[in-house]
Amino acid sequence: MRYLWMILLAGLAVTVQAQEATKPVTPLAQADSGSADNLLGLPPVPIPADNPQTPAKIALGDKLFHDKRFSIDGTVSCANCHDDKKAFTDNLPVSVGHHGLTGTRNAPTVINAAFYKSQFWDGREPSLEGQSKGPFVNPVEGGLPNHQVLLDIIRADADYPKAFKEVFGVDGQKVTIDHVAKAIASFERTVVAGNSPFDRFYFKGDKTALTEQQQRGFKLFLEQGRCVSCHIIEQNQALFTDSRFHNIGVGISAVQQDITPLVQAFLDAKNKGGDVDKIVLTDKKSSELGRFAVSDALADIGGFKTPTLRNIALTAPYMHDGSLKTLKEVVIHYNNGGVTPASAKPNDFLSGGIRPLNLTDAQIDDLVAFLQSLTSAQYSQAGK
Ligand code: HEC
Ligand code: HEC
Repeated sequence: MRYLWMILLAGLAVTVQAQEATKPVTPLAQADSGSADNLLGLPPVPIPADNPQTPAKIALGDKLFHDKRFSIDGTVSCANCHDDKKAFTDNLPVSVGHHGLTGTRNAPTVINAAFYKSQFWDGREPSLEGQSKGPFVNPVEGGLPNHQVLLDIIRADADYPKAFKEVFGVDGQKVTIDHVAKAIASFERTVVAGNSPFDRFYFKGDKTALTEQQQRGFKLFLEQGRCVSCHIIEQNQALFTDSRFHNIGVGISAVQQDITPLVQAFLDAKNKGGDVDKIVLTDKKSSELGRFAVSDALADIGGFKTPTLRNIALTAPYMHDGSLKTLKEVVIHYNNGGVTPASAKPNDFLSGGIRPLNLTDAQIDDLVAFLQSLTSAQYSQAGK
């Protein structure tokens, strides 16, 4: 009899566990970004244990993301550079912050940033929470002297204190930048999109989802182009990134002659307590050091994070410096073996994975057509 109880209890435990397992917070993110179909081809959205999704928190993050008052001249919100109507980019080579100041880097889309293992082109922030604190106080973005200014605006606002109380259980005076960061990150975790023609072709077996040209381009992506070795596609999902850093020959050539003094000056500044976020976004040459700025490893010079290629047709211009204007220019850059123009010399730190591809003009067009098949259904009207 006692034995029977044990079996029953064990069974119960399993059921409870199964229920726990089937209620990850992801469905909320899904609900917000439309039907579950919109996530076709994506893994579940990773949600940190200390920042669970709730509808009120997501709504608060959405509001903070769009609030222009959190900048020195009252004109810059996150959405200036990550505009919902431009697939969460600004379609500029490098972003424009307060008083028209420009930075050194191209604004990546926020769509699917939730899946990255690190944020920024050089991966200097591990989390969305950490990332979102930077722009307010960056000298060429929000330009605030410190986060206190922003917290004062929140505390004096008619609605924010109530919202923070509801979401985090804190009174106005106790709101910190970490609460702000958590709300914004929660919002960003709802800005996710799969379900492109490629996803319907590859994961749903809809053979009509890609044109014949796009199917030829897909084959080139996997084989002769070797794109998939870094822009990874897995059996059940595709994020088109290996979460690693590579020098593919963009930007670095311009500073190659200065590398030794540049590296020395950068390390000196960093050792004296210089803020990497500020240095790389305000000094064009330091920006080109790429992952080196984070790792201090010479092998990482000019290395940047492999970005997702989802919705790539909507996020021109391309690369960390916005230097390539079209997808065709990108494919030609790879075809040249990591140089633009074709006559340029490959840089000393070029990734071993980048070599001339010997694609014909027609094949270049096929590959571009494939990249155009990565636009999610929910953004297919963007900019139109
Ligand atoms: C002035 C323009 C500008 C503003 C304002 C701005 N960003 Fe960005 N954002 C950028 C640029 C440029 C980068 C790339 C910088 C780098 O990699 O060094 C970036 C990178 C990011 C990334 C990393 C994505 C990736 O692919 O690694 C996220 C996420 C992000 N921003 C979210 C935000 C949030 C949240 C805010 C508001 C708190 C914000 N941004 C405000 C321009 C801007
Ligand atoms: C060795 C790894 C590697 C290979 C192989 C590779 N890529 Fe990339 N890709 C990257 C990295 C890293 C970047 C960002 C580089 C930068 O900004 O300096 C990038 C950027 C891009 C971009 C621009 C993304 C953006 O948001 O601006 C496109 C488009 C692209 N790659 C397509 C391709 C195609 C097509 C192929 C095959 C012909 C390919 N890649 C092969 C690593 C790779």
